[in-house]
Amino acid sequence: MLKLYIKRNLRKFLDTLKFEYGMKWVLIVTIKIQQKNNYLNNLLRVGGNDMFSEKLNNAPMGYTFDDFLMLPSVSSVEPKDVETTTQISRNYRINIPIISSAMDTVTEAEMAIALAQEGGLGVIHRNMTINEQINEIKKVKRSGDLTIRDVITIDPEASIKEAQEIMDEEEISGLPVVQEGIVVGIISRRDVKPILNSTPQGKVMDIMTEEVVTVSESTTPEEALDIAYENKVERLPVVDDGFIVGILTMRDILARKNFPSASRDKKGRFLVAAATGPFDLERAMALDDAGADIIAVDCAHAHKPSIVKFTKTMNENIEADLLVGNIATGQAAEDLLSAEVDGLKVGIGPGSICTTRIIAGVGVPQLTAISSVADVAKDYGVPVIGDGGLRYSGDVAKALAVGADAVMLGSLLAGTHESPGDVVIMNGRKFKQYRGMGSLGAMTGGVGAGTDRYFQEVKGPMKHAKLVPEGVEGVVPYKGHANEILFQLIGGIKASMGYCGATGIKDLQKKAKFVRITSSGMTESHPHDLMITNESPNYPTSRLM
Ligand code: XMP
Repeated sequence: MLKLYIKRNLRKFLDTLKFEYGMKWVLIVTIKIQQKNNYLNNLLRVGGNDMFSEKLNNAPMGYTFDDFLMLPSVSSVEPKDVETTTQISRNYRINIPIISSAMDTVTEAEMAIALAQEGGLGVIHRNMTINEQINEIKKVKRSGDLTIRDVITIDPEASIKEAQEIMDEEEISGLPVVQEGIVVGIISRRDVKPILNSTPQGKVMDIMTEEVVTVSESTTPEEALDIAYENKVERLPVVDDGFIVGILTMRDILARKNFPSASRDKKGRFLVAAATGPFDLERAMALDDAGADIIAVDCAHAHKPSIVKFTKTMNENIEADLLVGNIATGQAAEDLLSAEVDGLKVGIGPGSICTTRIIAGVGVPQLTAISSVADVAKDYGVPVIGDGGLRYSGDVAKALAVGADAVMLGSLLAGTHESPGDVVIMNGRKFKQYRGMGSLGAMTGGVGAGTDRYFQEVKGPMKHAKLVPEGVEGVVPYKGHANEILFQLIGGIKASMGYCGATGIKDLQKKAKFVRITSSGMTESHPHDLMITNESPNYPTSRLM
């Protein structure tokens, strides 16, 4: 009130002052009023930084991928020599900085296997029951496990004919002979064939090889291969204290060489991550028991005291590493790091299917978000994952250069053979569905549906009208196999490092310098002034539809 009164009458008062006493007094009084004003402002907590206009005037600039390019620098680095290994959580390092999104149109077991084979990681989405999610984890673990665990065995008392029938039925060439769980011999087609016709009822124990070459769980694939070559055997039972726990075959060991960069756990199985809700301890513990290496707490806004608190509880109850997100500011990083998380995931609204920034008017352009979080996380040695908004390999390189240790991809991997869902044909072209986890379809379409990802409660049957979506549903062109996409992405990242003179991701973070560009700079950066007739595998023009 006082401030308003002074403001209204100020001009009149100063005019009178000038007329009666001259300009000098006007100045003296103005300074005094200014001082008084500051005092009043402080007293009434208005003005200064609390002025509405100051919220805009003092707002920092937020930047994203198209606002910058990296400067080429003197370089003796050849892209082929570049190292792409990276730390993705406190305890896990993978060979390529690529993680697939925990989305129901992106990652189930098939995608997670494809990623792990190439050295990346898949995060199984949570739009399913806990048991279904556990099954997906197990599929990944089984597929990357060299040891066949449901071993088919035979009893020493069984007949030779029986042994032959089992081998035919199961299409295998040999059987460990097991008595009460203990390996007592091994029998192969070669042992059976010569006497099958003459003595079909003869016993397995009479013709089996008694001296079985076995290995233990801790034998590495390389050691197992040497043992198999030395002893000229095709199959090696894996035993623990004489008891059979599995079998290794030469064929599987050699096939493993097709994926030299694969992401594997200590037992040689593929690494896999799985998503849980911020307060879903039951799911987190079940995923942990099922063998998930990393558990990703998946929500739209993880900077909440309740989540920080619950993250601590979750952390205490699981063995897997805990990756938490999403956040977009340094303060959020600081608060979550107090819960000793093993990795931070960054991105509020950059995703291709996200409408959070439009619906809520909230978000931080992704390069600024990544760099702000990385500034804090680097002091704690905790990895940062840049999640969403990546359209080209150049975007991935920029994300890494501003502090991300890896990126999480949705749209770039959606539409591949390995993404869940069927191919649909429209106007003679192939597409696959891709939808936001905050879209109506995803929020109402699954048991573990992501309504809590967006902090929306649904009581009773799902009712569309009661949900406020923060994502959209659509299709993306069918893109073939995920490994082809990964090949192009990694090729692009290596090219980027070559231009920047960086030998690896950490080196890129150290050396990359940026130039800020205008929208004309970006227009110039894309192909222009021609009609593309032969689409490039790393620059699909169909994306622009
Ligand atoms: P891209 O750009 O790779 O982004 O398609 C994938 C990431 O987007 C996030 N995500 C969402 N964000 N509404 C949102 O605001 C949604 O419906 C939604 N669904 C996914 C998620 O972080 C994902 O990895």
